[in-house]
Amino acid sequence: MKAVRIHTFGGPEVLQLEDVARPVPAADEILIQVYASGVNPVDWVVREGGNDALRAYLTLPLTPGWDAAGVVVEVGSEVTGFRPGDAVYGEPNFPGDGSYAEYCAAKASQFAPKPQYLSFTEAAGVPLAGLTAWTGLFGHGQLRAGQRVLIQGASGGVGGFAVQFAKAKGAYVIGTASAGNLEYLRQLGADEALDYRSQPVEELVRDVDVVLEASPARDNAARVQAVRMLKPGGIFVSVNVDLPFDEAVLAALARQRATGTLAPNQPRQEWLREITQLIDAGQVNVLVSQVFPLAEVAAAHRESQTWHVRGKLVLTIHPDADQA
Ligand SMILES: NC(=O)c1ccc[n+]([C@@H]2O[C@H](COP(=O)([O-])OP(=O)(O)OC[C@H]3O[C@@H](n4cnc5c(N)ncnc54)[C@H](OP(=O)(O)O)[C@@H]3O)[C@@H](O)[C@H]2O)c1
Repeated sequence: MKAVRIHTFGGPEVLQLEDVARPVPAADEILIQVYASGVNPVDWVVREGGNDALRAYLTLPLTPGWDAAGVVVEVGSEVTGFRPGDAVYGEPNFPGDGSYAEYCAAKASQFAPKPQYLSFTEAAGVPLAGLTAWTGLFGHGQLRAGQRVLIQGASGGVGGFAVQFAKAKGAYVIGTASAGNLEYLRQLGADEALDYRSQPVEELVRDVDVVLEASPARDNAARVQAVRMLKPGGIFVSVNVDLPFDEAVLAALARQRATGTLAPNQPRQEWLREITQLIDAGQVNVLVSQVFPLAEVAAAHRESQTWHVRGKLVLTIHPDADQA
């Protein structure tokens, strides 16, 4: 089968399309024919050799890609929930061999039925970013109906899902993005959309129950400002787990009697099923802003590295699948 491999860490040029053996599923795994793979910033972070949180877990050679949509072709002996022919999506094997490949063997517990009304291309953009948003908002942020949430980086992959999930659960949503994306945030359902470059967000926003840091800005001084926007007892959640809170952030949290938490994505099947339901109910949309063939994976990485992707980038691996 064809797969993108990296044999050495480095720039986009280390991504090589190769012929490799098709994986064999273990007892608790399914073998998926991958029709499309999402592209996430962590893909190129791994390609470059990882960060402090990841480096120790990476081994070469490696097939990146941790967002897959496709069809089950084989199930392991202990798998009960899936059958060959099922259309599925999920988050396979992070940070091991992933979905930039024609086939991928992965734990069945990290997959769910594909939303009925999404193409495979759209579905491949959901799991990693969607589950990160879900983990942050509901797993760590304990966001409930009627509460106020500030979502930083609301036009990106994680932030775009976070806006829609928070609205679907009945929260009041304030999102930040750059000027050209404010109308997009309103289309996603944000009650307020603020430009983080030209507006004094920390003066305009007060008394939020939860701040979700879903922007790529890794800056503890900015976190101190964000904590000041919380109500006493509020929760600051960052998905940027590779940057620990410094003393200044911890002091700001204590002054505000607030909690701060770093939220690594949890690929839980029950959460992915809830996301599927929201999508099929028409409460959550998926914007794929650009699609690349697998052979053009380097261009997809370059685009992701701009940090200004609206919605999601996706690689098509079986381009005829969505026409079937
Ligand atoms: N915890 C986890 O497991 C996990 C999982 C996935 C992602 N992440 C992290 O979550 C963050 C977002 O990931 P993503 O996939 O959503 O990225 P993305 O799709 O590239 O989106 C990033 C968004 O951030 C905004 N942005 C860029 N620079 C900014 C800045 N200096 N200040 C504020 N906002 C800025 C951009 O908005 P505009 O274009 O409107 O400026 C863009 O839409 C990344 O830091 C990523 O590493 C963590």
